Amino acid sequence: MAENSRVGNDPSDELGLPGVDTTKPSVARVYDMMLGGKDHYEVDREFYRRTMEIEPNAPLLAQALRRWLIRVVRYLTTTAKIDQFLDCGSGLPTAENTHQVAQRVNPEATVVYVDKDPMVIAHGRALLEENDHTHVVAADLRYPDDLFAHPVVSRSLDFDRPIALMQCATIHHVEDDENPRELMARYIELLPAGSYVLLSHFCDPDDGSEVSTLAKAMEANLRSAIGRGRCRTPAEIESYLTGLEILDPGLVPVNEWWPEGPRLAPALPIDFIGWGAVGRKP
Ligand SMILES: C[S@@+](CC[C@H](N)C(=O)[O-])C[C@H]1O[C@@H](n2cnc3c(N)ncnc32)[C@H](O)[C@@H]1O
Repeated sequence: MAENSRVGNDPSDELGLPGVDTTKPSVARVYDMMLGGKDHYEVDREFYRRTMEIEPNAPLLAQALRRWLIRVVRYLTTTAKIDQFLDCGSGLPTAENTHQVAQRVNPEATVVYVDKDPMVIAHGRALLEENDHTHVVAADLRYPDDLFAHPVVSRSLDFDRPIALMQCATIHHVEDDENPRELMARYIELLPAGSYVLLSHFCDPDDGSEVSTLAKAMEANLRSAIGRGRCRTPAEIESYLTGLEILDPGLVPVNEWWPEGPRLAPALPIDFIGWGAVGRKP
C-alpha cells in the first residue's frame, strides 16, 4: 500500500487500482515525490534515495519544471487567449494543475489531461475532473493519431481553433528508436494553425561540463531503474519544434524562461538540466 495513499495495489482492495505496478518505480510517482506528494511505494522511495545520492538537489529540477508549466499556461490563457489545453503526460494531481491555472483566468477553458499511468488516471478522475471543462484520458502519448481520435479528446477540443499541446517533461521518456522527432512533427501537423506547443525536456549539453556529467549520471540512473529516459542536447530538443515560431526567449533552462523575479542565489548545475520552449504554429 502506498504510504498515506488512498489507493491500494491489490485489485481486491476496496480502493484497489488494477494495473499499478509496484515492482518498478513509476515516473509519475517519483516526480510527484520530488514535488512533495505522498502517493508512493517502497520501490519509488528506493529510486528517490538513489537519485538523491547522485544529486541532493534533484527535487529542484521537478519544482522548476512545474513552475515553468504554470507560468506558460498562465501566459497562454491571459495573453494569447488560448482556451483549450491538451496536457500530455500530465502526472499525478498536484498543488497547481493546468485547469486550475487556466480556469482562474478563463473559467470556460477546457483541459484534457492524458497519461498512461493507472494511478494518475485514478487520482486524476477523482481530483481533476472538477467541472464540465476538465477531462482525464488514459492513453499513450507516443501515438498522436490515436490520441487525437480518442472520443473524449475529439469531443472536448475544437480542432478548428488553436489548442495548446503540452509535452512537459514527457518526451525525454520517449526512446531514440521511438523517433521523438517524428512524433513531435506529427503532433505539430495535426494541430490547427495558431496552436502552441509547450516542450520541456531533460538536457545534456554533452560538452564535458559539470552539467553534462550530472545529466549523464541522471540518465544512467533513470535507465537502470525505469528502463527508459534520455537527456538530449539543446539542438536535438529544438529540432522537435521544427516549423514553429519559437517565442522569446527561445529554448532555455526553464528557470530562465520569463522568471518571476531576479535570482537570490547562484545557479546550480541542476538548474541547467530542465530546458523548455514554447512554439506557435503559424
Ligand atoms: C515527469 S512527469 C511530468 C508531469 C507534468 N507534465 C509536469 O511537467 O509537471 C511525466 C508524466 O508522463 C507520463 N508518461 C510518460 N510516458 C508516457 C506515455 N508514453 N504516454 C502517456 N503518458 C506518459 C508519466 O506517467 C508521468 O505522469
